[in-house]
Amino acid sequence: MVTLDRPAGLQIDPDVLRQSFDREPFGFDHSLSGLDLFKFEELQTLTEKYIGHNEDYYIAAGAPAPGAIFYSVPVAPYEPHVAMERLEAESYRILLKRPEKYDPRFRELIDQLFKQVVDSLGGLGDDRIVRLEAGLIISSAATTTPFHFDPEVGFFSQIEGEKIYHVYSPSILGEEELERFYRSGRVSIAQVDLDGRDPAREHVFSLRPGKGLHQPQNAAHWVETRGARSISYTFVFETEASRARGRARAFNHYLRSLKLNPAAPGANPALDAFKSEAMRVVLPIRKGIADIVHRARAE
Ligand SMILES: [Fe+2]
Repeated sequence: MVTLDRPAGLQIDPDVLRQSFDREPFGFDHSLSGLDLFKFEELQTLTEKYIGHNEDYYIAAGAPAPGAIFYSVPVAPYEPHVAMERLEAESYRILLKRPEKYDPRFRELIDQLFKQVVDSLGGLGDDRIVRLEAGLIISSAATTTPFHFDPEVGFFSQIEGEKIYHVYSPSILGEEELERFYRSGRVSIAQVDLDGRDPAREHVFSLRPGKGLHQPQNAAHWVETRGARSISYTFVFETEASRARGRARAFNHYLRSLKLNPAAPGANPALDAFKSEAMRVVLPIRKGIADIVHRARAE
């Protein structure tokens, strides 16, 4: 068995965790920053393992403004090992997805941190994890990640450099905005507008090595690096219950298109379960049709 070079963990107050988990963002301290696996040379070696695995990385330039459209920002014409060499000469954000697939130390790290969180929560009850994965974000100085939300709960740790993380309470998003994203049933980032958001519901975290934050599912955010290169590590997960809520919202999207006014998830659990089960059948068919159309257009 491979082991980390020293013990590492998140220092989260169990009361804060139980009170705010997946409801409101909160900050915490962590002891991940000095681990060998985060040294820049080690990360360069890791990026070589990503060659040819373009489904597992995303490299883009910094956005011109926090409110920019996420996918309007140019994608880098390099694989990660080349972009790593150009972080100073140019301005990039490198996302390495699922590093635990490529280095067993990252597998050990995510398993350890996730167990710590679940133990502190007192377990997940009868809920079940359907996706647990990490991400490494290596960015040039002074780059901006535009405003969006993710369909997953996250624990984000700053490893090197500074990052200002602007994250809003999930309560800023209306049901219609959520439905527009969840109707597709895809695991992806969700585009939403930054304009007009309530500043009272924005949490701003000045992250440096040893600092982190909890990001509830659907908590929209934008992020900026400061005067130096930044390295961050996050792990995220979805549960069967969170997927079911997404499917209920997809169902509600259809009701709304029929000019009905559907109940938000949580108001009627039996109805939520019905909607979720109905969409469990419909969403794969919709995705299948979308894939066929996409392929037909490409031919
Ligand atoms: Fe995000």
